[in-house]
Amino acid sequence: MDSLLKFITCGSVDDGKSTLIGHMLYDAKLLFADQKKALELDSKVGSRGGDIDYSLLLDGLMAEREQGITIDVAYRYFTTDDRSFIVADTPGHEQYTRNMAVGASFADLAVILVDATKGVITQTKRHARICSLMGIRHMVLAVNKMDLIDYDEEAFRKISRDFETLVDSFGDMETAVIPVSATEGDNVTENSRHTPWYEGPPLLTYLGQADVSKEEEESPFVMPVQRVSRPGQHFRGFQGQIESGQVKPGDEILTLPSREKAMVQNVYVTDKETDEGVTGQPVTLQLDREVDVSRGNVLTVTDLPVTDRFTASLLWMDDEPLVEGKNFLLKIGTKTIPATVNTIHHKTDINTGEQVDVSRGEKNELLTVEIVTSEKSVFDTFRNNETLGAFILIDRVWNGTSASGVIEDTTYKSPNTVWEDTGVTRDLRSGQKGQKPVTLWFTGLSGSGKSTVAGAVEERLVREGYHTMLLDGDNVRHGLNRDLGFEAEDRYENIRRISEVSRLMNDAGLITLTSFISPYREDRERAREIIGEDFVEIYVSTPLDVCEERDVKGLYKKARSGQISGFTGVSEPYEAPADPDIELDTTDVSLDKAVNYVLKELKKYLD
Ligand code: ADX
Repeated sequence: MDSLLKFITCGSVDDGKSTLIGHMLYDAKLLFADQKKALELDSKVGSRGGDIDYSLLLDGLMAEREQGITIDVAYRYFTTDDRSFIVADTPGHEQYTRNMAVGASFADLAVILVDATKGVITQTKRHARICSLMGIRHMVLAVNKMDLIDYDEEAFRKISRDFETLVDSFGDMETAVIPVSATEGDNVTENSRHTPWYEGPPLLTYLGQADVSKEEEESPFVMPVQRVSRPGQHFRGFQGQIESGQVKPGDEILTLPSREKAMVQNVYVTDKETDEGVTGQPVTLQLDREVDVSRGNVLTVTDLPVTDRFTASLLWMDDEPLVEGKNFLLKIGTKTIPATVNTIHHKTDINTGEQVDVSRGEKNELLTVEIVTSEKSVFDTFRNNETLGAFILIDRVWNGTSASGVIEDTTYKSPNTVWEDTGVTRDLRSGQKGQKPVTLWFTGLSGSGKSTVAGAVEERLVREGYHTMLLDGDNVRHGLNRDLGFEAEDRYENIRRISEVSRLMNDAGLITLTSFISPYREDRERAREIIGEDFVEIYVSTPLDVCEERDVKGLYKKARSGQISGFTGVSEPYEAPADPDIELDTTDVSLDKAVNYVLKELKKYLD
């Protein structure tokens, strides 16, 4: 049996969590003399009228004492005759779900507290669900405050049954239910005379004897490679920690993902040759032939899934919501690779277990998602392999942990098969950018202010975090469309090409702004057909006389004097839109006002 037990305590301050742990330490004489003295002194001014307030032992942080709640993960170390313990005392309130997940990820066993007068409540369910997600397979329910219900066996049995029903839904789980009173000390370190009907051990004894080892002996050998060591020309060693099973010289192993076979020649622990490497040991393996293996690859004896997609449960911990298409760095085992949350399938209500369809994830939500990685790697379900099945998602901008998760299924096939059929889709690209791609089609006479307004609108959109592209008549006519003039056919071709390009930009997930006179209604209609429903027609309706008076480029003058033929508004018609989505006359408004107006009108198209 493992001589160290790492456990977490879950419950709220009202359940008496800190008091319970404090009482264990005190009764088991695990305190140093000065700690004990301080405790007795502190208690004189505490809330128990001079009786010892055991919770003071655990609530180490000043802020906790002031607020009366545990706000961070506090770790305590202690040792009994049976074994050593590390206990993570985590906050129980919903806003501290992240801290609890952190505590749970480190623990092998959870002590979940309930108040005997209240039984299994919503909070209990949340705590148990998070622990289960973080891979805890041993749970002890401590039914506290038994003194307040006169050590009523019936009430205790009912709470036990409620707990077992809850835990049943988590699959394989070893459980115990113990009636205790943290303040009175019943069944904490010694069996209580108040509960003669309870036949199990007191809490500390149970923890001292709980077998949390993972039957590693039977699991196959798995070692993620942490480093390839080449100290000299003739030595090439693969270093890593053995996650399960054992390895001996002479064993045949398989390399993943390259799927090559090789024989183990030597096993080293530190720099000494050894007969066998076992679970948990860091080793260096020397193989009998060259293999294609680098950091993050896996040496094993069984074939493990090599894939670039899987279904996972995520605990989303970021303030910013999770949207489909968002890209992260995924850290799993010894590997860190780019990955995208392709689809959010549903969230599981942490309190009730109910599944709800969602397309975005909010802080502290438990989500089932499909993740796609940039390259194929060795992944496994968390059930099979804790190292190759548990991961975190790191935000690429602020570099912090946005989520922690476990792999549920590596064989997942998307129900809408979008990814398989067409690769990276428009939805995925726009989701990545967190926006709806639209084309803002500015039309109006030369000099009406189209380009100026479109440019300023674009700048504002970019400042607000949108991803955009501006296509402007004068510019495009110097490049893509430099072969076109101003004959009706050329203008038609001009608008057709711009429409196709706009659509491609939209497919790339961008918001496109175009600024072309586009004088013919039919051409604009075709543009709408090409671009589709995300076409927004913005008519800059500044009248001809104003444009002509501005005559920024001096072209109206030339047109009037006959130097330019077929000039729109002078010798060629401009067919005004009958029903534009947005209309703007720039005659008497400042640029700022014009931009604000357009942005306000645009709102409904961008959300
Ligand atoms: S469109 O009619 O095909 O949409 P576009 O917006 O690309 O025209 O180009 C218009 C710009 O080309 C004008 O702003 C002006 O600077 C210049 N131009 C040169 N000749 C003409 C013309 N005959 N009619 C209109 N614009 C012209």
